[in-house]
Amino acid sequence: MIVKPMIRSNVCLNAHPLGCLSQVNEQINYVKGCDTIEGPKRVLVIGASNGYGLAARIVSTFSCGAASLGVSYERLPLPKRTASAGWYNNEAFTQRAQEEGHGVWNINGDAFSVDVKEQVKDHIQTHLEQIDFLVYSIAAPRRQDPDTGEMHSSVIKPLHQAYTAKTVDFMTGEVSEQTTEAATDQEVAHTVKVMGGEDWALWIDYLLEAGLLAEGFLTTAFSYVGPEQTRPIYRDGSIGKAKEDLEQHVTQITAQLQPLGGRAVIGVQKALVTRASAVIPAVPLYISLLYRVMKAKGLHENCIEQMVRLYRDFLFAPTEAATDELGRYRLDDWEMRADVQAEVAKRWQEATSGNVHQLADIEGLRTEFLRHHGFGISGVDYERDIPLDRF
Ligand code: NAI
Repeated sequence: MIVKPMIRSNVCLNAHPLGCLSQVNEQINYVKGCDTIEGPKRVLVIGASNGYGLAARIVSTFSCGAASLGVSYERLPLPKRTASAGWYNNEAFTQRAQEEGHGVWNINGDAFSVDVKEQVKDHIQTHLEQIDFLVYSIAAPRRQDPDTGEMHSSVIKPLHQAYTAKTVDFMTGEVSEQTTEAATDQEVAHTVKVMGGEDWALWIDYLLEAGLLAEGFLTTAFSYVGPEQTRPIYRDGSIGKAKEDLEQHVTQITAQLQPLGGRAVIGVQKALVTRASAVIPAVPLYISLLYRVMKAKGLHENCIEQMVRLYRDFLFAPTEAATDELGRYRLDDWEMRADVQAEVAKRWQEATSGNVHQLADIEGLRTEFLRHHGFGISGVDYERDIPLDRF
């Protein structure tokens, strides 16, 4: 089949196998070009197929030399429908890791379910014995409670009152105003259930109970704070409540890990376009302005650069790394710099459909979004008729 991008409202419905292969290899090559990092050797990544989780798995493997087990929830290919990008990314990662002699195992299923937790337990027992490091990097729209069977859906909405803000369609460059109604209390509770820390803690409980966490075990999950422009919809909104809950679970998890001398820590990461972030109101405009400003100042990073820095300078730094007052590692330090934020805020006020290409990096955002789905990558022949179930 000849595969061309199918995009609706900042969501890409398909993926290009060879493009995904190529962009995964580019990330691996980047990491192999950096100094190696003295880090974990047996790693579990939950949310391993895309974005920050995929980058963490690549750094674990190709910089620290770890064997890894990856959990993700991806759509398989059908005769006339491509798989989701993450499915191809997993295939690409597995192929390269195996070629280079690294242990690699994958589970494709719902990480919130008991069944997937049991599969992970079996895999660790069979292949790794124990794990040293767990990365929890899920961005999910819904979660079924394993005890009650109740389905919870996450929403990205403001609290208490509707929020109207500028946003951009990064395929057309059209700037418009978008109003999002306030979340109900139940929607907030459901969002916390999906994207908060409960499932992270359940994973730790389960693996600890099974004796699968090694001495000195470390676990990390990713959060976001962000600027004033997105505060009502993000940090002060329903998703922000979930992030607060995720962050608050650090104390409980670290206490549980105390007998092992282990700990949990949050990395507050930089805003980047991924499948998850592209659909948050106001965020595409903010990210495109941010990219423009950070690139001009030589500060821009993608998921893979963020992860190398997180591992090298924070998680596995030879000396203890600085945290903020809430004990979090701030990988959004460059994004939140006063000069960067002042410039973004100024451009945010000025941005219209007429000038957005001058003020913001719409092209860069679009290119990166397409790359996440394997499109727009040099060296890939997009006119070629290709199979959808292999490279
Ligand atoms: P992404 O959409 O690129 O990747 C999400 C991953 O979660 C994929 O591997 C997917 O297969 C997996 N997943 C989703 N539902 C699952 C389920 N039920 N079971 C198993 N796996 C499942 O997302 P991204 O952007 O990398 O986000 C990861 C984490 O980083 C999230 O917690 C997000 O809030 C956080 N973060 C993201 C930022 C951004 O700008 N993209 C900034 C700061 C934090």
